[in-house]
Amino acid sequence: MKLEEKLNELERRNQAAHAGGGAERTERQHEAGKMSARERIDFLLDEGSFEELDRLVTHSCRDFGMDQKKIPGDGFVTGYGRIDGRLVYVFAHDFTVFGGSLSLENAAKVCKVMDLAMKTGAPIIGLNDSGGARIQEGVASLAGYADIFLRNTLASGVVPQISAIMGPCAGGAVYSPAITDFIFMVDHSSYMFVTGPDVIKTVTHEDVTKEELGGAHTHNEISGVAQFIASKDEECLQMIRELLSFLPSNNRDGAPIRPTSDSPDRSQPELDSIVPAESDQPYDIKRIILGCLDEGYFFEVQEHFAKNIVVGFGRLDGKSVGIVANQPQVLAGCLDINASLKAARFVRFCDAFSIPIVTFEDVPGFLPGTEQEYGGIIKHGAKLLYAYAEATVPKITVITRKAYGGAYCVMGSKHLRTDVNYAYPTAEIAVMGPAGAVNILYRREIAEAGDEAESYRQAKIEEFRERFANPYTAAEKGWIDEVIQPRNTRPKLIAALRMLENKADTMPRKKHGNIPL
Ligand code: HXC
Repeated sequence: MKLEEKLNELERRNQAAHAGGGAERTERQHEAGKMSARERIDFLLDEGSFEELDRLVTHSCRDFGMDQKKIPGDGFVTGYGRIDGRLVYVFAHDFTVFGGSLSLENAAKVCKVMDLAMKTGAPIIGLNDSGGARIQEGVASLAGYADIFLRNTLASGVVPQISAIMGPCAGGAVYSPAITDFIFMVDHSSYMFVTGPDVIKTVTHEDVTKEELGGAHTHNEISGVAQFIASKDEECLQMIRELLSFLPSNNRDGAPIRPTSDSPDRSQPELDSIVPAESDQPYDIKRIILGCLDEGYFFEVQEHFAKNIVVGFGRLDGKSVGIVANQPQVLAGCLDINASLKAARFVRFCDAFSIPIVTFEDVPGFLPGTEQEYGGIIKHGAKLLYAYAEATVPKITVITRKAYGGAYCVMGSKHLRTDVNYAYPTAEIAVMGPAGAVNILYRREIAEAGDEAESYRQAKIEEFRERFANPYTAAEKGWIDEVIQPRNTRPKLIAALRMLENKADTMPRKKHGNIPL
Protein backbone atom coordinates (compact mmCIF):
# COMPACT_ATOMS: atom_id res chain seq x y z
CA MET A 1 0.00 0.00 0.00
CA LYS A 2 1.32 3.42 -0.94
CA LEU A 3 1.88 6.04 1.73
CA GLU A 4 -1.03 8.12 0.46
CA GLU A 5 -3.34 5.13 0.52
CA LYS A 6 -2.34 4.42 4.09
CA LEU A 7 -3.24 7.97 5.09
CA ASN A 8 -6.54 7.67 3.24
CA GLU A 9 -7.28 4.37 4.92
CA LEU A 10 -7.05 6.06 8.33
CA GLU A 11 -9.29 8.86 7.12
CA ARG A 12 -11.84 6.37 5.81
CA ARG A 13 -11.93 4.52 9.14
CA ASN A 14 -12.24 7.73 11.12
CA GLN A 15 -15.09 8.89 8.93
CA ALA A 16 -16.92 5.60 9.41
CA ALA A 17 -16.58 6.05 13.18
CA HIS A 18 -17.89 9.60 12.94
CA ALA A 19 -20.87 8.52 10.86
CA GLY A 20 -22.06 6.18 13.65
CA GLY A 21 -25.40 4.60 12.74
CA GLY A 22 -25.64 6.77 9.60
CA ALA A 23 -27.24 10.01 8.46
CA GLU A 24 -30.83 8.74 8.63
CA ARG A 25 -30.60 7.60 12.26
CA THR A 26 -28.73 10.75 13.24
CA GLU A 27 -31.52 12.76 11.61
CA ARG A 28 -34.06 10.84 13.71
CA GLN A 29 -32.02 11.68 16.82
CA HIS A 30 -32.14 15.37 15.87
CA GLU A 31 -35.87 15.20 15.11
CA ALA A 32 -36.40 13.87 18.64
CA GLY A 33 -34.75 17.06 19.90
CA LYS A 34 -31.57 15.22 20.88
CA MET A 35 -27.97 16.05 20.00
CA SER A 36 -25.70 13.29 18.72
CA ALA A 37 -23.12 11.75 21.07
CA ARG A 38 -20.28 13.74 19.49
CA GLU A 39 -22.25 16.99 19.48
CA ARG A 40 -22.92 16.51 23.18
CA ILE A 41 -19.27 15.96 23.98
CA ASP A 42 -18.21 18.98 21.92
CA PHE A 43 -20.78 21.16 23.67
CA LEU A 44 -19.82 19.88 27.13
CA LEU A 45 -16.07 20.35 26.86
CA ASP A 46 -13.93 23.43 26.34
CA GLU A 47 -13.75 24.09 22.62
CA GLY A 48 -11.41 21.77 20.75
CA SER A 49 -10.23 20.02 23.92
CA PHE A 50 -11.68 16.55 23.26
CA GLU A 51 -9.21 13.75 22.69
CA GLU A 52 -10.94 10.55 21.67
CA LEU A 53 -9.71 7.10 22.64
CA ASP A 54 -10.65 3.75 21.08
CA ARG A 55 -12.38 5.25 18.06
CA LEU A 56 -11.75 2.11 16.05
CA VAL A 57 -12.85 -0.52 18.55
CA THR A 58 -15.47 -2.94 17.22
CA HIS A 59 -17.55 -5.64 18.88
CA SER A 60 -16.73 -9.33 18.59
CA CYS A 61 -20.27 -10.78 18.61
CA ARG A 62 -20.95 -13.38 15.92
CA ASP A 63 -24.54 -14.33 16.77
CA PHE A 64 -27.70 -12.95 15.12
CA GLY A 65 -25.69 -11.88 12.06
CA MET A 66 -23.83 -9.33 14.16
CA ASP A 67 -20.51 -10.19 12.48
CA GLN A 68 -21.93 -8.44 9.38
CA LYS A 69 -22.78 -5.30 11.32
CA LYS A 70 -19.72 -3.57 12.65
CA ILE A 71 -19.25 0.16 13.09
CA PRO A 72 -15.91 1.56 14.27
CA GLY A 73 -16.31 2.81 17.82
CA ASP A 74 -19.30 0.46 18.29
CA GLY A 75 -21.63 3.21 19.47
CA PHE A 76 -19.65 4.55 22.41
CA VAL A 77 -17.54 7.70 22.20
CA THR A 78 -14.95 7.87 24.97
CA GLY A 79 -12.00 10.06 25.84
CA TYR A 80 -10.88 13.08 27.81
CA GLY A 81 -10.94 16.85 27.59
CA ARG A 82 -11.23 20.00 29.67
CA ILE A 83 -13.97 21.92 31.46
CA ASP A 84 -12.90 25.42 32.49
CA GLY A 85 -9.39 24.19 31.78
CA ARG A 86 -9.67 21.24 34.18
CA LEU A 87 -9.19 17.64 33.07
CA VAL A 88 -12.31 15.43 32.84
CA TYR A 89 -13.04 12.03 31.33
CA VAL A 90 -16.17 11.45 29.33
CA PHE A 91 -18.11 8.70 27.64
CA ALA A 92 -21.22 9.11 25.53
CA HIS A 93 -23.60 6.53 24.12
CA ASP A 94 -24.46 6.85 20.44
CA PHE A 95 -28.11 5.77 20.26
CA THR A 96 -27.85 5.46 16.46
CA VAL A 97 -25.65 2.36 16.86
CA PHE A 98 -27.65 -0.58 18.23
CA GLY A 99 -29.62 1.80 20.46
CA GLY A 100 -26.45 2.80 22.33
CA SER A 101 -26.39 -0.68 23.84
CA LEU A 102 -23.34 -1.99 25.65
CA SER A 103 -21.06 -4.59 24.09
CA LEU A 104 -18.20 -6.21 25.97
CA GLU A 105 -15.81 -4.00 24.00
CA ASN A 106 -17.80 -0.85 24.84
CA ALA A 107 -17.54 -1.79 28.47
CA ALA A 108 -13.77 -2.07 28.10
CA LYS A 109 -13.72 1.42 26.57
CA VAL A 110 -15.64 2.85 29.52
CA CYS A 111 -13.46 0.97 32.00
CA LYS A 112 -10.36 2.37 30.31
CA VAL A 113 -11.40 5.99 30.87
CA MET A 114 -12.58 5.20 34.39
CA ASP A 115 -9.22 3.63 35.22
CA LEU A 116 -7.42 6.67 33.81
CA ALA A 117 -9.69 8.97 35.81
CA MET A 118 -8.78 7.14 38.99
CA LYS A 119 -5.06 7.21 38.22
CA THR A 120 -5.03 10.90 37.32
CA GLY A 121 -7.65 12.09 39.82
CA ALA A 122 -10.24 13.64 37.50
CA PRO A 123 -14.06 13.53 37.29
CA ILE A 124 -15.91 11.08 35.06
CA ILE A 125 -18.96 12.23 33.12
CA GLY A 126 -21.29 9.74 31.43
CA LEU A 127 -23.74 10.94 28.76
CA ASN A 128 -26.26 8.11 28.75
CA ASP A 129 -28.59 7.29 25.87
CA SER A 130 -28.76 3.52 25.82
CA GLY A 131 -31.00 0.48 25.81
CA GLY A 132 -28.63 -1.19 28.28
CA ALA A 133 -26.96 -4.56 27.84
CA ARG A 134 -26.64 -5.53 24.16
CA ILE A 135 -29.19 -8.28 23.89
CA GLN A 136 -27.35 -10.15 21.11
CA GLU A 137 -24.29 -10.59 23.31
CA GLY A 138 -25.94 -12.18 26.33
CA VAL A 139 -23.71 -12.70 29.31
CA ALA A 140 -20.71 -10.98 27.68
CA SER A 141 -22.58 -7.70 27.88
CA LEU A 142 -23.69 -8.38 31.45
CA ALA A 143 -20.07 -9.06 32.34
CA GLY A 144 -19.16 -5.72 30.81
CA TYR A 145 -21.75 -3.94 32.93
CA ALA A 146 -20.55 -5.62 36.08
CA ASP A 147 -17.00 -4.46 35.26
CA ILE A 148 -18.35 -0.89 35.08
CA PHE A 149 -20.41 -1.20 38.29
CA LEU A 150 -17.29 -2.33 40.14
CA ARG A 151 -15.37 0.70 38.92
CA ASN A 152 -18.28 3.04 39.76
CA THR A 153 -18.18 1.69 43.29
CA LEU A 154 -14.41 1.90 43.68
CA ALA A 155 -14.39 5.43 42.26
CA SER A 156 -17.16 6.54 44.63
CA GLY A 157 -15.72 9.14 46.98
CA VAL A 158 -12.44 9.27 45.05
CA VAL A 159 -13.39 11.26 41.93
CA PRO A 160 -16.74 12.96 41.24
CA GLN A 161 -18.94 10.84 38.97
CA ILE A 162 -21.68 12.62 37.05
CA SER A 163 -24.37 11.08 34.86
CA ALA A 164 -26.58 12.75 32.32
CA ILE A 165 -29.59 10.79 31.12
CA MET A 166 -30.26 12.03 27.60
CA GLY A 167 -32.45 9.38 26.03
CA PRO A 168 -34.33 6.22 26.91
CA CYS A 169 -32.11 4.36 29.38
CA ALA A 170 -32.79 0.89 30.67
CA GLY A 171 -31.10 -1.88 32.66
CA GLY A 172 -27.39 -1.33 33.18
CA ALA A 173 -27.69 2.12 31.63
CA VAL A 174 -29.56 3.19 34.76
CA TYR A 175 -27.78 1.12 37.38
CA SER A 176 -24.37 2.55 36.58
CA PRO A 177 -25.69 6.14 36.90
CA ALA A 178 -27.44 5.14 40.14
CA ILE A 179 -24.04 4.52 41.75
CA THR A 180 -22.69 7.89 40.60
CA ASP A 181 -22.91 11.13 42.59
CA PHE A 182 -25.35 13.19 40.53
CA ILE A 183 -27.91 12.37 37.85
CA PHE A 184 -29.17 14.97 35.37
CA MET A 185 -32.21 14.27 33.18
CA VAL A 186 -33.51 16.08 30.10
CA ASP A 187 -37.23 16.81 30.19
CA HIS A 188 -39.38 14.91 27.66
CA SER A 189 -36.49 13.06 26.02
CA SER A 190 -34.91 11.05 28.81
CA TYR A 191 -36.26 8.05 30.66
CA MET A 192 -34.86 5.74 33.28
CA PHE A 193 -36.31 2.37 34.14
CA VAL A 194 -35.18 -1.08 35.09
CA THR A 195 -37.75 -2.49 32.67
CA GLY A 196 -39.89 -0.57 30.21
CA PRO A 197 -43.69 -0.22 29.91
CA ASP A 198 -44.04 -3.29 27.64
CA VAL A 199 -42.49 -5.68 30.16
CA ILE A 200 -44.51 -4.11 32.96
CA LYS A 201 -47.70 -4.68 30.97
CA THR A 202 -46.81 -8.34 30.52
CA VAL A 203 -45.84 -8.97 34.12
CA THR A 204 -48.20 -6.83 36.19
CA HIS A 205 -50.82 -5.84 33.55
CA GLU A 206 -50.20 -2.24 34.58
CA ASP A 207 -50.64 0.44 31.90
CA VAL A 208 -48.05 3.16 32.25
CA THR A 209 -46.42 5.53 29.80
CA LYS A 210 -42.65 5.94 29.46
CA GLU A 211 -43.01 9.47 30.81
CA GLU A 212 -45.00 8.44 33.88
CA LEU A 213 -42.79 5.46 34.57
CA GLY A 214 -39.39 7.02 34.26
CA GLY A 215 -39.50 10.56 32.88
CA ALA A 216 -37.52 13.48 34.22
CA HIS A 217 -40.36 14.66 36.47
CA THR A 218 -40.93 11.20 37.90
CA HIS A 219 -37.32 10.84 38.97
CA ASN A 220 -36.84 14.44 40.09
CA GLU A 221 -40.08 14.74 42.05
CA ILE A 222 -41.31 11.29 43.07
CA SER A 223 -38.51 8.73 43.24
CA GLY A 224 -35.62 11.09 44.00
CA VAL A 225 -33.38 9.02 41.71
CA ALA A 226 -32.28 12.13 39.78
CA GLN A 227 -30.97 15.42 41.16
CA PHE A 228 -31.40 17.79 38.21
CA ILE A 229 -33.82 18.42 35.36
CA ALA A 230 -32.93 20.37 32.21
CA SER A 231 -35.25 21.53 29.44
CA LYS A 232 -32.94 20.35 26.65
CA ASP A 233 -29.55 18.78 25.95
CA GLU A 234 -27.66 22.09 25.81
CA GLU A 235 -29.00 23.23 29.18
CA CYS A 236 -28.16 19.86 30.74
CA LEU A 237 -24.56 20.03 29.55
CA GLN A 238 -24.22 23.63 30.69
CA MET A 239 -25.52 22.64 34.15
CA ILE A 240 -22.91 19.88 34.39
CA ARG A 241 -20.16 22.42 33.67
CA GLU A 242 -21.56 24.62 36.40
CA LEU A 243 -21.82 21.82 38.96
CA LEU A 244 -18.17 20.93 38.35
CA SER A 245 -17.14 24.52 39.13
CA PHE A 246 -18.10 23.81 42.77
CA LEU A 247 -16.30 20.47 43.03
CA PRO A 248 -12.70 19.41 43.44
CA SER A 249 -11.31 17.05 40.81
CA ASN A 250 -10.72 14.33 43.39
CA ASN A 251 -10.77 13.63 47.12
CA ARG A 252 -7.25 14.99 47.67
CA ASP A 253 -7.67 18.35 45.90
CA GLY A 254 -9.66 21.38 46.99
CA ALA A 255 -12.48 22.86 44.94
CA PRO A 256 -11.51 25.75 42.64
CA ILE A 257 -11.58 29.17 44.29
CA ARG A 258 -13.60 31.85 42.53
CA PRO A 259 -12.43 35.32 43.55
CA THR A 260 -15.33 37.58 44.47
CA SER A 261 -15.88 41.30 44.98
CA ASP A 262 -18.54 40.48 47.59
CA SER A 263 -17.02 41.61 50.89
CA PRO A 264 -16.52 38.95 53.57
CA ASP A 265 -17.64 41.60 56.09
CA ARG A 266 -20.91 42.36 54.32
CA SER A 267 -23.73 42.50 56.83
CA GLN A 268 -27.26 42.14 55.49
CA PRO A 269 -29.84 44.10 57.53
CA GLU A 270 -32.77 42.45 55.68
CA LEU A 271 -31.89 39.15 57.36
CA ASP A 272 -33.00 40.57 60.70
CA SER A 273 -36.64 40.52 59.65
CA ILE A 274 -36.96 37.25 57.71
CA VAL A 275 -37.71 34.92 60.62
CA PRO A 276 -41.23 35.91 61.78
CA ALA A 277 -41.90 36.80 65.40
CA GLU A 278 -44.65 34.13 65.62
CA SER A 279 -42.98 30.78 65.68
CA ASP A 280 -45.70 29.03 63.66
CA GLN A 281 -45.43 31.39 60.67
CA PRO A 282 -43.66 30.05 57.57
CA TYR A 283 -40.84 31.83 55.72
CA ASP A 284 -38.53 30.95 52.86
CA ILE A 285 -35.17 29.72 54.16
CA LYS A 286 -33.67 30.36 50.72
CA ARG A 287 -33.85 34.10 51.44
CA ILE A 288 -31.40 33.59 54.29
CA ILE A 289 -29.18 31.31 52.21
CA LEU A 290 -29.04 33.81 49.34
CA GLY A 291 -28.38 36.67 51.76
CA CYS A 292 -25.21 34.97 53.00
CA LEU A 293 -23.59 33.46 49.91
CA ASP A 294 -21.15 35.23 47.60
CA GLU A 295 -23.09 37.38 45.14
CA GLY A 296 -26.29 35.85 46.48
CA TYR A 297 -25.78 32.82 44.23
CA PHE A 298 -26.99 29.34 45.18
CA PHE A 299 -26.79 26.23 42.95
CA GLU A 300 -29.58 24.07 44.29
CA VAL A 301 -29.39 20.28 44.15
CA GLN A 302 -32.52 18.10 44.03
CA GLU A 303 -34.73 21.17 44.00
CA HIS A 304 -37.91 19.28 43.17
CA PHE A 305 -37.68 16.44 45.69
CA ALA A 306 -38.42 16.63 49.44
CA LYS A 307 -38.79 20.38 49.33
CA ASN A 308 -38.96 20.47 53.13
CA ILE A 309 -35.17 20.37 53.05
CA VAL A 310 -32.95 22.45 50.78
CA VAL A 311 -29.47 21.32 49.72
CA GLY A 312 -26.98 22.75 47.26
CA PHE A 313 -23.73 24.52 46.63
CA GLY A 314 -22.64 28.10 46.99
CA ARG A 315 -19.48 30.00 47.79
CA LEU A 316 -18.35 31.94 50.83
CA ASP A 317 -15.19 34.00 50.48
CA GLY A 318 -14.74 32.45 47.02
CA LYS A 319 -14.73 28.88 48.37
CA SER A 320 -17.30 26.13 47.80
CA VAL A 321 -19.63 25.22 50.63
CA GLY A 322 -22.45 22.69 50.82
CA ILE A 323 -25.66 24.09 52.24
CA VAL A 324 -28.24 21.99 54.10
CA ALA A 325 -31.32 23.87 55.32
CA ASN A 326 -34.74 22.99 56.67
CA GLN A 327 -37.46 24.75 54.70
CA PRO A 328 -40.19 26.04 57.09
CA GLN A 329 -42.31 26.84 54.06
CA VAL A 330 -42.92 23.15 53.28
CA LEU A 331 -44.28 20.72 55.90
CA ALA A 332 -43.09 23.28 58.46
CA GLY A 333 -39.56 22.04 57.72
CA CYS A 334 -40.21 18.62 59.31
CA LEU A 335 -37.73 15.85 58.66
CA ASP A 336 -39.42 12.97 56.85
CA ILE A 337 -38.03 9.93 55.06
CA ASN A 338 -37.33 11.69 51.78
CA ALA A 339 -35.78 14.76 53.39
CA SER A 340 -33.52 12.55 55.50
CA LEU A 341 -32.34 10.58 52.48
CA LYS A 342 -31.79 13.69 50.38
CA ALA A 343 -29.77 15.49 53.03
CA ALA A 344 -27.81 12.42 54.17
CA ARG A 345 -26.57 11.70 50.67
CA PHE A 346 -25.61 15.31 50.16
CA VAL A 347 -23.75 15.54 53.48
CA ARG A 348 -21.81 12.38 52.62
CA PHE A 349 -20.89 13.75 49.20
CA CYS A 350 -19.58 16.99 50.72
CA ASP A 351 -17.63 15.08 53.34
CA ALA A 352 -16.08 12.73 50.76
CA PHE A 353 -14.87 15.70 48.71
CA SER A 354 -13.75 18.05 51.52
CA ILE A 355 -16.51 20.61 50.97
CA PRO A 356 -17.44 22.37 54.25
CA ILE A 357 -21.06 21.96 55.34
CA VAL A 358 -23.15 24.92 56.48
CA THR A 359 -26.48 23.97 58.05
CA PHE A 360 -29.43 26.30 58.59
CA GLU A 361 -31.78 24.74 61.08
CA ASP A 362 -35.46 25.37 61.69
CA VAL A 363 -37.10 22.04 62.33
CA PRO A 364 -40.04 21.12 64.55
CA GLY A 365 -39.02 17.44 64.55
CA PHE A 366 -39.54 14.26 62.58
CA LEU A 367 -42.85 14.04 60.72
CA PRO A 368 -45.24 11.95 62.82
CA GLY A 369 -47.62 9.30 61.46
CA THR A 370 -48.04 5.69 60.44
CA GLU A 371 -46.97 6.32 56.86
CA GLN A 372 -43.59 7.53 58.06
CA GLU A 373 -43.18 4.89 60.75
CA TYR A 374 -44.15 2.02 58.41
CA GLY A 375 -41.82 3.48 55.79
CA GLY A 376 -38.93 3.26 58.23
CA ILE A 377 -38.38 6.88 59.31
CA ILE A 378 -36.35 5.47 62.19
CA LYS A 379 -33.71 3.95 59.93
CA HIS A 380 -33.86 6.71 57.32
CA GLY A 381 -33.62 9.50 59.89
CA ALA A 382 -30.70 7.58 61.39
CA LYS A 383 -28.89 7.90 58.06
CA LEU A 384 -28.86 11.66 58.39
CA LEU A 385 -27.67 11.41 61.96
CA TYR A 386 -24.95 9.02 60.88
CA ALA A 387 -23.89 11.21 57.95
CA TYR A 388 -23.48 14.31 60.11
CA ALA A 389 -21.69 12.41 62.87
CA GLU A 390 -19.31 10.76 60.41
CA ALA A 391 -18.45 13.96 58.51
CA THR A 392 -15.01 15.35 59.34
CA VAL A 393 -15.10 18.41 57.05
CA PRO A 394 -15.58 21.85 58.64
CA LYS A 395 -19.17 21.96 59.89
CA ILE A 396 -21.07 25.07 60.92
CA THR A 397 -24.69 25.20 62.04
CA VAL A 398 -26.97 28.23 62.35
CA ILE A 399 -30.21 27.67 64.27
CA THR A 400 -32.62 30.26 62.91
CA ARG A 401 -35.67 29.15 64.88
CA LYS A 402 -36.86 25.72 65.95
CA ALA A 403 -34.43 23.02 66.98
CA TYR A 404 -36.77 20.56 68.62
CA GLY A 405 -36.23 17.05 69.84
CA GLY A 406 -34.18 14.51 67.94
CA ALA A 407 -34.00 16.91 65.04
CA TYR A 408 -31.88 19.23 67.26
CA CYS A 409 -29.39 16.39 67.66
CA VAL A 410 -29.47 15.40 63.99
CA MET A 411 -29.06 18.72 62.19
CA GLY A 412 -25.40 19.32 62.90
CA SER A 413 -25.58 19.77 66.65
CA LYS A 414 -22.42 20.40 68.67
CA HIS A 415 -22.68 16.86 70.00
CA LEU A 416 -22.08 15.43 66.49
CA ARG A 417 -18.70 17.22 66.43
CA THR A 418 -19.94 20.26 64.57
CA ASP A 419 -17.23 22.89 64.88
CA VAL A 420 -19.15 26.13 65.22
CA ASN A 421 -22.79 26.44 66.28
CA TYR A 422 -24.56 29.76 65.98
CA ALA A 423 -28.13 30.65 66.89
CA TYR A 424 -30.31 33.63 66.09
CA PRO A 425 -32.08 35.36 68.99
CA THR A 426 -35.27 33.80 67.56
CA ALA A 427 -33.95 30.26 68.17
CA GLU A 428 -36.04 27.84 70.22
CA ILE A 429 -34.06 24.85 71.42
CA ALA A 430 -36.18 22.35 73.32
CA VAL A 431 -37.28 18.74 73.46
CA MET A 432 -40.51 19.76 71.74
CA GLY A 433 -42.66 22.80 70.98
CA PRO A 434 -44.32 24.60 73.92
CA ALA A 435 -47.87 23.39 73.12
CA GLY A 436 -46.88 19.74 72.79
CA ALA A 437 -44.78 19.89 75.96
CA VAL A 438 -47.53 21.48 78.06
CA ASN A 439 -50.15 18.98 76.84
CA ILE A 440 -47.98 16.17 78.16
CA LEU A 441 -46.52 17.72 81.30
CA TYR A 442 -49.81 19.23 82.55
CA ARG A 443 -52.36 16.78 81.14
CA ARG A 444 -53.90 16.08 84.53
CA GLU A 445 -53.95 19.73 85.66
CA ILE A 446 -55.55 20.84 82.39
CA ALA A 447 -58.24 18.16 82.70
CA GLU A 448 -58.97 19.25 86.26
CA ALA A 449 -59.09 22.99 85.42
CA GLY A 450 -62.66 22.76 84.06
CA ASP A 451 -63.72 26.07 82.48
CA GLU A 452 -60.27 27.47 83.12
CA ALA A 453 -58.60 24.69 81.14
CA GLU A 454 -57.74 26.76 78.07
CA SER A 455 -56.46 29.81 79.92
CA TYR A 456 -54.45 27.52 82.24
CA ARG A 457 -52.98 25.79 79.22
CA GLN A 458 -52.09 29.08 77.53
CA ALA A 459 -50.40 30.36 80.69
CA LYS A 460 -48.32 27.21 80.93
CA ILE A 461 -47.40 27.43 77.23
CA GLU A 462 -46.22 30.99 77.76
CA GLU A 463 -44.23 29.90 80.83
CA PHE A 464 -42.61 27.08 78.86
CA ARG A 465 -41.83 29.40 75.96
CA GLU A 466 -40.15 31.91 78.30
CA ARG A 467 -38.14 29.20 79.97
CA PHE A 468 -37.07 26.97 77.07
CA ALA A 469 -37.99 28.44 73.68
CA ASN A 470 -34.82 30.47 73.34
CA PRO A 471 -31.16 29.92 72.53
CA TYR A 472 -29.80 30.94 75.91
CA THR A 473 -30.01 27.68 77.86
CA ALA A 474 -27.96 25.97 75.12
CA ALA A 475 -25.59 28.96 74.98
CA GLU A 476 -25.07 28.76 78.75
CA LYS A 477 -23.96 25.17 78.28
CA GLY A 478 -21.60 26.04 75.42
CA TRP A 479 -23.55 24.00 72.87
CA ILE A 480 -24.22 27.26 71.04
CA ASP A 481 -20.96 29.12 70.60
CA GLU A 482 -22.56 32.48 69.94
CA VAL A 483 -26.00 33.97 69.58
CA ILE A 484 -25.67 36.24 66.56
CA GLN A 485 -27.67 39.00 64.92
CA PRO A 486 -29.05 37.58 61.67
CA ARG A 487 -27.58 40.49 59.70
CA ASN A 488 -24.09 39.28 60.59
CA THR A 489 -24.53 35.71 59.37
CA ARG A 490 -22.22 36.04 56.37
CA PRO A 491 -19.25 37.57 58.23
CA LYS A 492 -19.70 35.06 61.05
CA LEU A 493 -19.76 32.10 58.66
CA ILE A 494 -16.69 33.33 56.82
CA ALA A 495 -14.77 33.96 60.05
CA ALA A 496 -15.56 30.40 61.17
CA LEU A 497 -14.59 28.91 57.81
CA ARG A 498 -11.28 30.78 57.84
CA MET A 499 -10.62 29.54 61.35
CA LEU A 500 -11.38 25.97 60.24
CA GLU A 501 -9.30 26.07 57.07
CA ASN A 502 -6.70 23.61 58.35
CA LYS A 503 -9.13 21.43 60.26
CA ALA A 504 -8.07 17.80 60.51
CA ASP A 505 -10.30 15.22 62.12
CA THR A 506 -10.39 11.46 61.69
CA MET A 507 -12.51 8.36 62.04
CA PRO A 508 -11.48 5.35 64.12
CA ARG A 509 -9.72 2.63 62.11
CA LYS A 510 -12.31 0.39 60.50
CA LYS A 511 -12.98 -1.34 57.19
CA HIS A 512 -16.13 0.73 56.77
CA GLY A 513 -19.05 1.71 58.94
CA ASN A 514 -22.48 0.14 58.74
CA ILE A 515 -24.75 3.06 57.88
CA PRO A 516 -28.39 1.98 58.46
CA LEU A 517 -29.32 1.34 54.81
C1 HXC B 1 -29.48 -4.32 21.31
C2 HXC B 1 -30.97 -2.60 21.17
C3 HXC B 1 -31.14 -2.59 22.56
C4 HXC B 1 -30.38 -3.53 23.30
C5 HXC B 1 -32.37 -1.06 21.74
N1 HXC B 1 -31.77 -1.64 20.69
N2 HXC B 1 -32.01 -1.63 22.87
N3 HXC B 1 -30.15 -3.46 20.54
N4 HXC B 1 -29.58 -4.37 22.64
N5 HXC B 1 -30.47 -3.56 24.63
C6 HXC B 1 -31.92 -1.31 19.28
C7 HXC B 1 -33.29 -1.63 18.75
O1 HXC B 1 -33.34 -2.97 18.33
C8 HXC B 1 -33.39 -0.67 17.58
O2 HXC B 1 -32.68 -1.18 16.48
C9 HXC B 1 -32.65 0.54 18.08
O3 HXC B 1 -31.80 0.10 19.13
C10 HXC B 1 -33.56 1.62 18.63
O4 HXC B 1 -34.46 1.03 19.56
P1 HXC B 1 -36.02 1.30 19.54
O5 HXC B 1 -36.66 0.27 20.37
O6 HXC B 1 -36.48 1.41 18.11
O7 HXC B 1 -36.09 2.73 20.21
P2 HXC B 1 -37.17 3.31 21.23
O8 HXC B 1 -38.54 3.00 20.76
O9 HXC B 1 -36.80 4.73 21.45
O10 HXC B 1 -36.97 2.50 22.60
C11 HXC B 1 -35.75 2.56 23.29
C12 HXC B 1 -35.73 1.51 24.42
C13 HXC B 1 -36.09 0.12 23.87
C14 HXC B 1 -36.77 1.94 25.49
C15 HXC B 1 -34.35 1.58 25.07
O11 HXC B 1 -35.27 -0.12 22.72
C16 HXC B 1 -35.87 -0.98 24.85
O12 HXC B 1 -36.72 -1.21 25.72
N6 HXC B 1 -34.74 -1.68 24.71
C17 HXC B 1 -34.42 -2.81 25.54
C18 HXC B 1 -34.13 -2.38 26.95
C19 HXC B 1 -33.66 -3.52 27.80
O13 HXC B 1 -34.49 -4.27 28.33
N7 HXC B 1 -32.31 -3.71 27.84
C20 HXC B 1 -31.64 -4.79 28.51
C21 HXC B 1 -31.56 -4.42 29.96
S1 HXC B 1 -30.74 -5.63 30.90
P3 HXC B 1 -33.21 -1.02 14.98
O14 HXC B 1 -32.12 -1.64 14.17
O15 HXC B 1 -34.49 -1.72 14.92
O16 HXC B 1 -33.34 0.46 14.80
C22 HXC B 1 -29.34 -4.89 31.37
C23 HXC B 1 -28.57 -5.69 32.37
C24 HXC B 1 -27.73 -4.85 33.28
O17 HXC B 1 -28.98 -3.86 30.96
C25 HXC B 1 -27.69 -5.31 34.69
C26 HXC B 1 -28.41 -4.40 35.61
C27 HXC B 1 -28.14 -4.69 37.05
